[in-house]
Amino acid sequence: MPWKIAVGADNAGYGYKEALKQLLEGDARVASVIDVGVGAPDDGTNYPSVAVAAARKVAAGDVDRALLICGTGLGVAISASKVKGVRAVTAHDLYSVQRSVLSNNAQVLCMGERVIGLESAKALIDVWLGLQFDPTSASAAKVDEICSYEGD
Ligand code: RB5
Repeated sequence: MPWKIAVGADNAGYGYKEALKQLLEGDARVASVIDVGVGAPDDGTNYPSVAVAAARKVAAGDVDRALLICGTGLGVAISASKVKGVRAVTAHDLYSVQRSVLSNNAQVLCMGERVIGLESAKALIDVWLGLQFDPTSASAAKVDEICSYEGD
């Protein structure tokens, strides 16, 4: 903290991406927000392109985290997790959002515009911004084990 964050969405998540970007830009815990697209609601770019663009920024260290939105939050998570070193999750409830960082050290949070209400998404992101993985915790060895399977 303060976090450098990438945001991205396909057209099914464009509306939430814009709203949540605004939320992030107004939060003192956020240093910068990079928008990897899509840039318009009628942009038909497929969700994997956007998700991988954001995940590559995480992997390169250009940003600390990414927030990705599609219809379900599923496709963007699957796609972002293909990038080496990136752990992306779909989470729409408080406990999962908390554990995604504290247990899994996930750098990418994905949500579905067709799944969660906007105000609930905003509340979860408020929590997400306050979370930080503890590398001395018992979870660290498990995350290391996840990383050890990359490329299998
Ligand atoms: C629309 O393409 C929809 O399938 C997409 O936004 C996402 O929900 C996929 O996982």
